[in-house]
Amino acid sequence: MNYTKLQWWERFQKYYTDFPELGLAIDLSRMNVDDAFFAAMEPGIQKAFADMDALEKGAIANPDEKRMVGHYWLRNAALAPTPEIRQEIEATFAKIKDFAGKIHSGAIKGMAGEFKNFLLIGIGGSALGPQFVAQALGNPRKDKLKPYFFDNTDPDGMNRTLAAIGKKLDRTLCIVISKSGGTKETRNGMLVAKAAYEKAGLNFGQHAVAVTMLGSELDKYTIENQWLERFPMWDWVGGRTSELSAVGLLPAALQGINIDEFIAGAQLADTVTRRKTVKDNPAAQLALAWFESGNGKGTKNMVVLPYKDRLELFSKYLQQLVMESLGKALDLNGNVVNQGICVFGNKGATDQHSYIQQLRDGLNNFFATFIEVQTDQVGEPIFTEPDTTSGDFLQGFFLGTRTALAENNRESITITVKTVNPSTVGLLIALFERAVGFYASLVNINAYHQPGVEAGKKAAGTVLKIQLEIINYLKSNLNQPFTAAEISKAIGREEDVETVFKLVEHLAANPLRQIKKRSVRNSFEARYKMV
Ligand code: PA5
Repeated sequence: MNYTKLQWWERFQKYYTDFPELGLAIDLSRMNVDDAFFAAMEPGIQKAFADMDALEKGAIANPDEKRMVGHYWLRNAALAPTPEIRQEIEATFAKIKDFAGKIHSGAIKGMAGEFKNFLLIGIGGSALGPQFVAQALGNPRKDKLKPYFFDNTDPDGMNRTLAAIGKKLDRTLCIVISKSGGTKETRNGMLVAKAAYEKAGLNFGQHAVAVTMLGSELDKYTIENQWLERFPMWDWVGGRTSELSAVGLLPAALQGINIDEFIAGAQLADTVTRRKTVKDNPAAQLALAWFESGNGKGTKNMVVLPYKDRLELFSKYLQQLVMESLGKALDLNGNVVNQGICVFGNKGATDQHSYIQQLRDGLNNFFATFIEVQTDQVGEPIFTEPDTTSGDFLQGFFLGTRTALAENNRESITITVKTVNPSTVGLLIALFERAVGFYASLVNINAYHQPGVEAGKKAAGTVLKIQLEIINYLKSNLNQPFTAAEISKAIGREEDVETVFKLVEHLAANPLRQIKKRSVRNSFEARYKMV
């Protein structure tokens, strides 16, 4: 990419596409794309369009789980493949609005009065979208409910959140989100929250709602414990593509975000990204640019750099959307392909003071995705230098970084939007969802299952089972000290001695677990006993 400034300008005019109907533009001029590449990829992208058409019509697009993939119907229920699905979508959206209205008006209250906060408990696809949207569109002075999150099973993290809520717990609505209704991190979060409510003399169920699949463990629990309300998730919506279902819409509506505009933005992006010509389709452009950069093998990482604080969590959101969707061992024919695109990022200009040094001068193993937001702020700007605002600096730093990368043959895509509002956020989500779908077709993988996540959950289950065996063994041998190796032998887990060692070390580090360690010089000869 050794061009003069005027040659860059020529490339820019050729590969910059304005989508005025979306208020969005895509610039691929700093990617190594050319006419020959697009021509060579035409059959592949036409197949991707056809695959997407079939998916939207209700094909089993997730063959491993034998499921339809219906997140596009959420934005236009009329496209749902059956009248029942259409009715469920419409009824759920109406229920969300009705419920949010009643919370805002105080028709539904907690034990101490009107709700002022919500505490969302979920993980992965059941938290990342709501967190991104809450930060992108929230306004601490105007939010109808202030958002808080438990997105992990870290007790210290949960305690910090509870401390931040403080005495307002009695005005806090818990939203427990789990599509499967059986995710342990979320279950733990719910139980920790419940304990905190009960300690404060509050009935948890009177402050809790759930979003989950009908008949799940969580669903049954909400019924037994008479929670305020339940909202459905469906097997045809994946966790990471669920932001436009009750998963994302319920918290957004409660926060006071205009969910009609949010849905409309996504719907608009869906309409435009259904076009069958690459030059008219921003999602196809993105998918092809990703393919070009990583040679269809994901050899280059995607560094997401929004120059806007509100979009800071977009990179985290995209990390899951892209990596959980595209990071797959097998292709659709069962061949080992180990596909994926690694995504990371935070925000500009902040990141210019951390890892952008490496991006410019170090390993050339990435392409940047800049998100440029043209509107700086609401209200009067402060001029920090003559005729220059902080927003001007932000754009200056973005353009400077883009140039500095291109000078060193580092690729970048730029997505430009006018402003951050519900519509833009909806359309950005829909744009990337579609791009991920197209890319999956280009590399022939199933983007809609997550066997790796399931494998992690299973392995954790085994670890916790071993821990129980250790505790039981030590309980039945009170006050007798054993090494990790002795314990593992005694419980019939000789091959898991390393796991046993890590578990007893953890238990001993938490005094309330009543396991004492007697240290010796050789760590592996330390002894552990239950007291
Ligand atoms: O995208 C996914 O499928 C996952 O990240 C899930 O969202 C995550 O594992 C949480 O699952 P659940 O919503 O069933 O609790």
